[in-house]
This record gives sequence, C-alpha cells and structure tokens, in this order.
Amino acid sequence: LKALQGKDILSIADLSTKEISALLQLARDLKKGEKKPICQKILGLLFYKASTRTRVSFTTAMYQLGGQVIDLNPSVTQVGRGEPISDTARVLARYLDILAIRTFKQEDLQTFAHYADIPIINALSDLEHPCQILADLLTIQECFGTLEGITLSYFGDGNNVAHSILLGGALMGMKVCIATPDDYKPDSGVVEQAQALAASHGGEIFLTKDPVEAAKGSHVLYTDVWASMGQEASADARIPVFQPYQLNEKLLSYADKEAIVLHCLPAHRGEEITSEVIEGKQSRVWDQAENRMHAQKALMVSVLGIE
Ligand code: CP
Ligand code: NVA
Repeated sequence: LKALQGKDILSIADLSTKEISALLQLARDLKKGEKKPICQKILGLLFYKASTRTRVSFTTAMYQLGGQVIDLNPSVTQVGRGEPISDTARVLARYLDILAIRTFKQEDLQTFAHYADIPIINALSDLEHPCQILADLLTIQECFGTLEGITLSYFGDGNNVAHSILLGGALMGMKVCIATPDDYKPDSGVVEQAQALAASHGGEIFLTKDPVEAAKGSHVLYTDVWASMGQEASADARIPVFQPYQLNEKLLSYADKEAIVLHCLPAHRGEEITSEVIEGKQSRVWDQAENRMHAQKALMVSVLGIE
C-alpha cells in the first residue's frame, strides 16, 4: 500500500480497485489482531457537522494505533470565525500528520487538500462519504466472502452515501441499483463516473424509481436518512415523497433469501427503515458501524506510510 502514502482521500474514487482490496485485507488483519502497527502520529478532526460514529471511530482507531487526536471544533477555533481555509490548512499542516474533515462543500475539501501537504480525508461532505463505503464493503465481504457478483440496492435519497456507494460498488465490480423518487436522483456527474467505472471493472449501474424492481433478488439492501444534515428545512415535505422507498419487511421479502440490511446510521425508525427490519435477523448495522473503525485504521496507516 506504499502507493497510498501521502494521498488525500476526498472521494472513494481516489482509490483504485487494487487499493480498496488491499485496504479491506489490511482492515481484516487489523480487526483480527493479526497486525498491530504502531503509529505515533497526530490526527486532527475538523467537523462542521455533527457526528457520532465517524468522530469516535477515527479517535479510537488512532488511540489504538498509539497516536493522538485533536478535536478542532469550528465553534472553538478560528475557522468558525471566517479565517480563510487556505490559511488554516497551511497552519494545521505544520502541527498535524493527518486531517479528517466533515463539511458541506466538496470544493472546501479540495482547497484544504491543495494548501495542506498532509493527507486530507473526507469524513463526509454533501457529495460523498468515502470512509462509510470502505466499512460497508468490508461488511459485505465479511457476510458473503466476496464483492464480485453481489447486488447492492440502495433506497431513498440520491445523496452523499448513495454517491460513494455508486462509485465504490462500480470500482469493485458490483451491481449497484439505486431506487429514488424522480426529483431525488443521484448527481448526474457521479452517475456518469460510476457508469464508466462499472464498464471498465465488470460492474453494473441501474437507476430506477421502482423500489420493488431494485429489491428483487438483491443481496444487500441499504438505506439512509431522507433528509441529510443541512436539509432539515425540507425534512417534513420529503416524508410523503419517500414513503414508498421505506426499507420494511415487505420490500425485504423481494430480496435474496440470504440478503443483509445495511444503514450507515443514524436511523429514523418508521421513516427510511422500520424497527422490525433494523432490529431483524438480516440487519448487520452494528457490524457495519464497528467496521468504520477497522476500515479507517487501515486507511490511516496506509496514507501515513506505516503499512
Ligand atoms: N454514519 C456516520 O457517518 O455516522 P456519524 O454521522 O455519526 O459520524
Ligand atoms: N446522508 C447523511 C449521512 C449521515 C452519516 C447526512 O449527510 O446527513
């Protein structure tokens, strides 16, 4: 994984198929305790949006590696008072070894990456959530032993998580079905990129507004909130539009018998997923959440050049 040393990961497509496979293998070795790399580095967390899993899994992963973490909450640093990103980025790069950022605009991540000569990791933006997808792929691989030939169907909003699923699934040669209402399709640029990646990596991309069509025979049923962070004002208006896309027992009954259910969390029971399904025997959401830590540990040691 030497090729990853020093790299910024702003999109899951910043990684190649080979690099993702190697990262997943390393994550499995780390999870089993078969590798215990020591990395006395300092990770900064600059989160402009709330987070439980990403914040804690990055922190515990770095602590377990022997490193340190600094929480750069925008409300107590100058970034929240308008210091230019170009200045903040150059200064932080003098103190930190690696910086994970959760923000709105993908361009802000690019600006950080341009000015900071340390690895910048996208810890969620409005466009993508690459760390989430690494953990999802790890979970799917654990359940099915492979990613090849697996159909993943995503239901709901064509959002950041859907975008990273499209790109990551395409890179790994999976069939990705995205079922959304007409007005909430994934970004067309991301879809085109995913289609091109799928064509060259043996994957397949399928967009539909029919959730049943997407669920039929699928191995992984995945959903996320109907209103993402920053979209709170439209949350109520979205509920009736998204209702047919709810991941419930009826929808699950169309899937493969061995199908698993994933959700990046936090979940809204009774909206995008029912209590029966998230608590049901096909749900793997807690393993999925745990895998955030293993996948991000693998990613950090790789971009820091420890492995
Ligand atoms: N799935 C995820 O990123 O969760 P948090 O928002 O809690 O970090
Ligand atoms: N799409 C959600 C994911 C949260 C982890 C959001 O952006 O709020």
